[in-house]
Amino acid sequence: MRRRVLWTIALAALTLGLAACSGSDLPQDTFDPAADTAQKQKDILIPVLWVAAAVFIVVEGGIVLIAIKYRHRRGHDRIPAQIHGNTRLEIGWTIAPAVVLAFVMVPTISLIWELAERPPDAMHVSAKGYQWWWGFEYTDPEMAVTYGSNGPIVTANVMVVPLGRTVDISVEAAGGLISGLGPDGEPNPDFAVIHSLWAPRLFGKQDAVPGKPAHIVFTPNETGTFWGQCAEFCGLQHGIMKFRIVVMEPAAFEAWAENQRQPAVAPTDPLAKTGLDLFLNGAGNGSCVACHAVGGTDATSPAGPDLTHFADPSRECFAGCNFANTDVEALKAWLRDPNAVKLGAKMPNYQLSEEEVEALTAYLMSLT
Ligand code: CUA
Repeated sequence: MRRRVLWTIALAALTLGLAACSGSDLPQDTFDPAADTAQKQKDILIPVLWVAAAVFIVVEGGIVLIAIKYRHRRGHDRIPAQIHGNTRLEIGWTIAPAVVLAFVMVPTISLIWELAERPPDAMHVSAKGYQWWWGFEYTDPEMAVTYGSNGPIVTANVMVVPLGRTVDISVEAAGGLISGLGPDGEPNPDFAVIHSLWAPRLFGKQDAVPGKPAHIVFTPNETGTFWGQCAEFCGLQHGIMKFRIVVMEPAAFEAWAENQRQPAVAPTDPLAKTGLDLFLNGAGNGSCVACHAVGGTDATSPAGPDLTHFADPSRECFAGCNFANTDVEALKAWLRDPNAVKLGAKMPNYQLSEEEVEALTAYLMSLT
């Protein structure tokens, strides 16, 4: 009976262990780097794992051996020899871990210094953690938009970068919307919480701590879409505070940037025109422009995601990246009641009528 229980536990553990190796399509795989930073971090991780495995085997093996050797046996009531103090042994187990730690520390600390460097020719993007989404601002002069006050290109939950270009991301915890906007019209910094920017195939975690500017640098060496995830518990939506980094060939990136520099396209379809009117002048019992900006219109609030190019194919997703941009039904459900779609969302339910939902959807889907 006891043997059967032990076998069951062993099999369950083996299954769990093997499940960790399953699947080849893992979008957030630290062991499959697509940028220099992730590669360097993996090159440190692997040897440290081997050292840790060796320490584990020596220590746990010793415990198991001793437990078996000196276990209580019927008829053997004799107490084994009691040893008090062994200078050679004590010096040995003090020096050995110090040597192991030094072996691990030297490459780790030098990589920390290396990753802290900010290459002068990098492209600069500022990543801001809001509740609960990521805003990206392209702060280099050539990435300014052509309208309004010529501010940076701003995207939500997606960052597009050219292949082979070094990107220097300033990571910060932006404000919350608990008590509306702060003095400078941005989400109130007093209500910012800690987030962590993590795109496992490109770079390791970089915490965003309120009031503590930080940065992470990486150079992508593969095109494609790379998933990222907030890696620091930040409240209700933490688990789905996702983002994507899209790496494009330089020419495709320039085309993307050129589109992003332009103001929003004016709608031509009558339903979308009605949507624009509702967007600017109030819909249901609320107002879209209280939180959202659409480039080239009177909507300029930075409190929520910038919607200038909402339906641009590169943006791919909305509402914490839970839905594809092209998912019209999901967008309608979101407009009807954001909290029913994404519990805890800061976007209020404005009690929109079905006509308003249809018109706003038509407008948003026209913003390529
Ligand atoms: Cu933001 Cu977790």
